[in-house]
Amino acid sequence: MKNVQRQVIIAGNWKMYKTVKQATTLVDEILSAIAGEKNLPEIVLFPPFTALSAVEKSLKKSTIKFGAQNMDWHDEGAFTGEISPLMLVDLNAQYVLIGHSERRQHFGETNGTTPLRIKAALSHGLKPILCVGELIDEREAGLTDAVVSRQVGAALGDLTADQLAKIAIAYEPVWAIGTGNHCAAAEANRVCAMIRKTVASLLARLEDTATKGLQMNANYLPVLYGGSVKSSNIAELIKEEHIDGALVGGASLVAEEFVSIIKAAQARVKRTAKATSAASR
Ligand code: PGA
Repeated sequence: MKNVQRQVIIAGNWKMYKTVKQATTLVDEILSAIAGEKNLPEIVLFPPFTALSAVEKSLKKSTIKFGAQNMDWHDEGAFTGEISPLMLVDLNAQYVLIGHSERRQHFGETNGTTPLRIKAALSHGLKPILCVGELIDEREAGLTDAVVSRQVGAALGDLTADQLAKIAIAYEPVWAIGTGNHCAAAEANRVCAMIRKTVASLLARLEDTATKGLQMNANYLPVLYGGSVKSSNIAELIKEEHIDGALVGGASLVAEEFVSIIKAAQARVKRTAKATSAASR
């Protein structure tokens, strides 16, 4: 089986925080703190829509990527208050979050609309990070795996192998978001591994899998953990085999915290590169 180096991603979800001025200040602080650093993970910022253009300008000469926190699936139309993939591409965005739990909880997003958004993003060349995760009641009822695999299957069930190779998934247990209590690393790792297996079983159903050499193996898929990630817990989380990075909310709003998280991920980047080169020798 071909050994594939999984991308390590540290993403900052700014939610409904930061004016344009505050956004550019934060970007400048992050840029100066990581200048000259090697083995950086893929860093992705998700500012509010109003700051996307300013963030794009500030990031012009850097390797940091950016994207939107949500997106409609139509190119244009009478959809008051919505933003289309065309508009994001127009701003040179590269990523988009799809199905964040706050969108599901407060704005009526469902397993029915995530696949539409995912497909629209991919057809416009945007990389989607699909967010999945269970509510506390669902966890307590023993439904975590059923809920999460249903969210994954609904969003990705009819993608091709080529399309599946272009996405990332963030496991964000809803009870851990914004609470200060992250999911224990071993349990987060277990669910991330289950997500990878679910995607592997989607791939196994596809006829083009074999021809594309993806070997029914979801080993290339970056699976991130999100939910109260901070500088004090990132090291224990990112040590886990199936956690390839983090989607960070609150701690991404403060440069020092976010940069500490980025730096903790450098060890993972180094380790992955070493393992890949050893395996290919
Ligand atoms: P949090 O948010 O890090 O503040 O818990 C994570 C998220 O909602 O993506």
